[in-house]
Amino acid sequence: MTRMEPLKLAILGCGTVGTEVVRLLHEQADDLTARIGAPLSIAGIAVRRPDRDRGALPVPRELFTSDAVGLVKRADVDIVVEVVGGLEPARSWLVDALRAGKSVVTANKALLAEDTATLAAAAADGDTDLYYEAAVAGAIPLLRPLRESLHGDRVTRITGIVNGTTNYILSKMDSTGAGFGEALDEATELGYAEADPTADVEGFDAAAKAAILASLGFHTRVTAADVYRVGITDVTAADVAAAKEMGCTVKLLCIAERRTDPDGTDSVSARVHPAMIPRSHPLAGVGDAYNAVFVEAEAAGQLMFYGAGAGGAPTASAVLGDIVAVARNRRLGRSGTPDSAYANLRIRPMGEIETRYHISLDVADRAGVLATVATVFAEHGVSIQTVRQEGRGQGGEALLVIVTHRAPDAALRSTVDALASLDIVRQVASVMRVEGETAQ
Ligand code: NDP
Ligand code: HSE
Repeated sequence: MTRMEPLKLAILGCGTVGTEVVRLLHEQADDLTARIGAPLSIAGIAVRRPDRDRGALPVPRELFTSDAVGLVKRADVDIVVEVVGGLEPARSWLVDALRAGKSVVTANKALLAEDTATLAAAAADGDTDLYYEAAVAGAIPLLRPLRESLHGDRVTRITGIVNGTTNYILSKMDSTGAGFGEALDEATELGYAEADPTADVEGFDAAAKAAILASLGFHTRVTAADVYRVGITDVTAADVAAAKEMGCTVKLLCIAERRTDPDGTDSVSARVHPAMIPRSHPLAGVGDAYNAVFVEAEAAGQLMFYGAGAGGAPTASAVLGDIVAVARNRRLGRSGTPDSAYANLRIRPMGEIETRYHISLDVADRAGVLATVATVFAEHGVSIQTVRQEGRGQGGEALLVIVTHRAPDAALRSTVDALASLDIVRQVASVMRVEGETAQ
């Protein structure tokens, strides 16, 4: 067998994920060479602080540089691996690399959710590969199945838990009755939540992943700005207890749907928000910081993907898989399946999406209250599935818990606004969407 020239990698970033990428490249070197048919060699590693002590990382110090631009431009670099994050300068590095015909592997969900179009165009210009399996759900093979295995089918819905930090927090709130703040503190102590957990708890991270999943699933460019987003900061222990009362648990869901209207027009939607789901739902048992994604396709039916969605080693596993794929393609002088956005479907706003609400109202406990509340629902065309009333003791107040049937989100929101303005409603105590079929 003839010995092949090594394929050279420029690694951009050596933090949580990059460190594990470098470690795996070293530890698996012989197997990777056998799988690719040529060895991989690291041309350089760009970081912010090249002189920082990197512990026992198995690479010579001279490989570290702060000059990412220079590293990407090197003529001997074949593959650029970007594990820095953020929009710029990452976008410029990757566009330059792709246009120059270098293959790119990235885990940068924020950039992909903002501007896959620019990266995909640069990959087409350079006739090269842009792979990003690690950008959604860490170690779980999910994007390649959507991009390749399911290409002969029509994906209709993708429902997922795609943020580990928030799933840990909500699972804790469910199992211990803790409030949001207490559960977040625990997630921070365990290293799941970052020092600034905004991107996770406000749903930005999950929204970026929803955009990527919807784009791949529906062959339509969906960006983070197209994704309706609500985080979990307003989820209370009372919401979680109310969910339990009706046999549900609260999860931060990412939902991407394709719908065909009666006139035959297709449209898509993507949203991220907390929702009550029945405990029998396949996603209800996904605890701790795990991720899971449930894909529904016309011919394939229901598929479930589950595993570690974050962390250095699991994410590096997905990065390495992409490195092997693009390296093989280079060896064979071909490129892999490009992104397809040919369908260019209309993106439906949240107001048009049909969902269900669980609404808790503090109301005056007197004759006619229930009828008045029911009239507001009827006036907005929202049908009630169940109503439960509990006395609140001596104060002449009661708690009304209403679960609706499916209705357009805009109608549900107007209903809640109208309820809030009634004299008999002391307070709208909580509003949460419900997904999946509930018994009550
Ligand atoms: P870290 O913050 O741990 O690491 C970032 C790395 O980028 C560091 O090595 C840093 O250098 C380097 N860096 C920052 N700015 C620059 C710059 N201007 N020029 C050169 N190098 C720079 O991030 P993670 O490893 O956690 O994440 C990397 C990417 O992977 C992100 O896109 C993230 O969204 C994605 N991702 C992360 C997951 C995770 O679980 N952590 C899961 C899935 C995806 P220095 O070391 O000197 O500070
Ligand atoms: N902060 C993210 C999470 C990392 O908690 O899931 C993985 O993308």
